[in-house]
Amino acid sequence: MNVIYLNGQFMPKQKASISVLDRGFLFGDGVYEVIPVFCKKPVGLNLHLERLQRSLQAIHIQLPRFTQQSISIFKELILLNHLEDKNFSFYIQITRGVSTERLHEFTLDLTPTVMVCCKSLPQYSNEVLQKGFKAILMPDHRRQECYVKSINLLPNVLAYQKAKEVGAIEAILIKEGYAVEASSSNLFIVKDNTLITPPLSPKILAGVTRQIIIQLAKENHIPVIERNIKENELYDADEIWVTGSSKEICPITRIEGHSINAKKVGPLWYTINQLYQAYKQTEQPLW
Ligand code: PDD
Repeated sequence: MNVIYLNGQFMPKQKASISVLDRGFLFGDGVYEVIPVFCKKPVGLNLHLERLQRSLQAIHIQLPRFTQQSISIFKELILLNHLEDKNFSFYIQITRGVSTERLHEFTLDLTPTVMVCCKSLPQYSNEVLQKGFKAILMPDHRRQECYVKSINLLPNVLAYQKAKEVGAIEAILIKEGYAVEASSSNLFIVKDNTLITPPLSPKILAGVTRQIIIQLAKENHIPVIERNIKENELYDADEIWVTGSSKEICPITRIEGHSINAKKVGPLWYTINQLYQAYKQTEQPLW
């Protein structure tokens, strides 16, 4: 996965560089996407590209043709990196571009910096998944615009790092007494055979995996409610999952010293995970 795309060219990642005046470097002024790919089949491709356009629009970067161009960039990266039969993810990062000096204000005539590379996906064995994972709770220190997939991830990075330091898979973020999402994933709980997940709002990222899970649940007559989840409800949940493009659906069986479902992965996780794995197979290959 050595070859990357940067501003119209494919090159080894060791040779790729950007200006120190790039506003992504100076201000975190940019957005990103992560698209998982299984043997040439991207999962939720259009949903990811639509969200990318929404993020770009939200921060006033115009790049309407990227959606179309991206497909040929993706194909070329697969070929150049020999990933035809591999599982990996595309990482796309677009920043506002290079300024003449470090000024907070921007003009609309900058040429955005566009980078696409391929990243490995975490591989959890069935044995690991069936044990479930630990999660911690952390205050949500992010600002309001969490629906924008911004590269400005300092609060997320610090929360995730804290989780890793104590052997947890994620930090679930608490805002004003409610569990909103995790540092790099969305949140679901199960109570009385019903899936519950916080509703879409500027407080969370509209996860593609979240959307697919809701769709699969509805198609399979599993009740889903989108509503706010109180912090206390976590301890009392029958199941807790964190979901995202890289992690997929990770069952949480331990949270801040409490056991969830007597530390056993719950039955609905098995059902939804199976549906999700089957769904991945139905996605269209890039060619
Ligand atoms: N993270 N919430 C946050 C804060 C995220 O960063 C992510 C994704 C999600 C899940 O979104 P999706 O299902 O579309 O991947 C929710 C990515 C994978 C990352 O930062 O690497």
